[in-house]
Amino acid sequence: MISVLFGPEKGFSSDVIVVLDVLRATSVIVTALANGALLIKPVSSIREAVKMKKEGYIIGGERSAVKLQSFDKGNSPLEYFDVAGSKIVLTTSNGTRLIKKAMKYSKNIIAGAFLNLTEIVEYIRNVENIILWCAGNKREVSYEDTLLAGAILEKLNRIGRRDFHDSALVALEFFGRRKEIKFRGTHARRLIGLGYEKDVAFCSQVDIYSVLPVLREDVFIKR
Ligand code: MLT
Repeated sequence: MISVLFGPEKGFSSDVIVVLDVLRATSVIVTALANGALLIKPVSSIREAVKMKKEGYIIGGERSAVKLQSFDKGNSPLEYFDVAGSKIVLTTSNGTRLIKKAMKYSKNIIAGAFLNLTEIVEYIRNVENIILWCAGNKREVSYEDTLLAGAILEKLNRIGRRDFHDSALVALEFFGRRKEIKFRGTHARRLIGLGYEKDVAFCSQVDIYSVLPVLREDVFIKR
């Protein structure tokens, strides 16, 4: 069965969990690996991230969408084009916390964004039990994460998957009603208000990278 979780609260076990935080954590992870980063280690706290500096990591992330003073980079995918050969530690308000939580429920976790839509679908197309787990926004449903869940489901539907839980049908029908991939959610509007309109436009691009971040131990690497 394929299920969608619309927010971080409730989890359950699955063969694969696809973590979706379109704005912007999983878009950053995809972008960094596509641009040659060796690995990305998601951590929950600022303290854990800062500790990794000594080990040669680039420290990236945000709180309230803004880069932290002691950090090398924020949570804009546009800051992750110059990371070839580097190790990155990332902490964000919702996305990296959800990744840590998902680790309790599956050994097989991948990071999804519109940027790598087809890669996600190719990886999960024959997997029996799949959760598309949306990071959401401050424990609320996220328009953009739900839209991406729907886009993944539409592709799976086209290749014959029909084993959709009600939650998946909701996301699929929501996506089907959209004529275009346009981000209209609270967090997109907030980011635009903070001057990150280029991030919002960047993250809405489909399939610009053929990269699939897979979690091995506790770091994302390219599959
Ligand atoms: C998050 O993980 O909460 C987001 O990626 C926030 C952001 O847009 O920076």
